[in-house]
Amino acid sequence: MDGQPKELRSSRWFVKDDLRSFGHRSRLKGMGFDDADYLGKPIVAILNTWSDLNTCHSHFKTRVDEIKRGVLQMGGFPVEIPVVSLGEMLMKPTTMLYRNLLAMETEEVLRCHPVDAAVLMGGCDKTVPAMIMGAISANIPFVFFPAGPMLKARWKDQTLGSGTDAWKYWAERCAGNLCDGDWKDIENCIARSAGTCMTMGTASTMACIAETLGVTLPNASCIPAVVSEHSRLAVATGRKAVQLATSQMAPLSFLTREHFENALIAQLTLSGSTNAIVHMIAMAGRAGIRLTLDDYDRISREIPVLADLRPSGRFLMEDFYNAGGLSGLLNRLRDKLHLGALTINDRTLGEQIESGAVLDDNIIRTRENPLWPEGGTCVLRGNLAPNGCVIKTVASDPRLHKHKGRAVVFRSYGDLKARINSPDLETVLI
Ligand code: FES
Repeated sequence: MDGQPKELRSSRWFVKDDLRSFGHRSRLKGMGFDDADYLGKPIVAILNTWSDLNTCHSHFKTRVDEIKRGVLQMGGFPVEIPVVSLGEMLMKPTTMLYRNLLAMETEEVLRCHPVDAAVLMGGCDKTVPAMIMGAISANIPFVFFPAGPMLKARWKDQTLGSGTDAWKYWAERCAGNLCDGDWKDIENCIARSAGTCMTMGTASTMACIAETLGVTLPNASCIPAVVSEHSRLAVATGRKAVQLATSQMAPLSFLTREHFENALIAQLTLSGSTNAIVHMIAMAGRAGIRLTLDDYDRISREIPVLADLRPSGRFLMEDFYNAGGLSGLLNRLRDKLHLGALTINDRTLGEQIESGAVLDDNIIRTRENPLWPEGGTCVLRGNLAPNGCVIKTVASDPRLHKHKGRAVVFRSYGDLKARINSPDLETVLI
């Protein structure tokens, strides 16, 4: 770093006295922008995964304006670019088919436009890895903005968590223990607000991974979607993007193997979603880092599960946030982390989590009283999975840790759905 301001990437589009640059400038004029709006200013692309059919991102219409406000505050020029929206709830057969599409779109949209830095607005499961994968490959400075979890849901005297309680009460309904009225009540209240699933499912896991990688603002991963802190996070994220554009802190200039190992440790101590493993391997791959199941197996043996969060534990993301969130949790594992890993926040991970305090030891457990001492997520190999598979031991009934029995093979998801509850399942082996 020579301390001299570097030329902005976007200047290639606008500064020259040639016909192409003339065209670029004149078309911006045609949209009502003047030189004072954009010329010589960092251009921040805000990649927005909002859609009317993405239930988790329904607040992004408001948040994008707040991010723009932050960009303008710092003298940048915000441009909103819609990208494909992957909402888990309404896409069939699975959003996983489209993760790489969003990754490619993110990469190419950033590469082909006059962009100096990006804000990636994601949250629902696959949007997080997809956008980060694309931005790493484009190697353009970026800050990830997580959608934030939904508020906790209540039904009668029960706290409901998305995903886990839907399955639980569906099983009760299948067993004839839940009347139509109760089932309808649960439907009415289980998704209480905008935001992502409020258990430690894939969305929350990936948001915490993004924060641990150092590509969000501090504490961004756990702020509930609909509280005022989340709006302020949006404005601050816009400001941060301008700063990144100016410093030109591209992801490949700072992401190392240590960053991904830290993220893996976060995933393990959270007892995060096992889906995150495939995403982590893919994100690391974009940075030229080879992460394997063996890395998971090795590191998992040393990491206790300290977060008492559903589906492995008892609490929800709102509780976790109020108990100190990710910084508080990671601060309890300082000796396990690579504290020198640099973040986009002008400091190392160690410095970033230094002030993280835990306010409730029931939700974020102490090292002496973990939810699970070590190996909460295990890699298994055998004739059913010669290349390896993963089990979350902490979330499974100990009865299942050793099991001898017949394997039932289903031809498809439809076949499984049709036969899984059949009393004669064992006799219809094919
Ligand atoms: Fe979007 Fe769960 S459905 S995070």
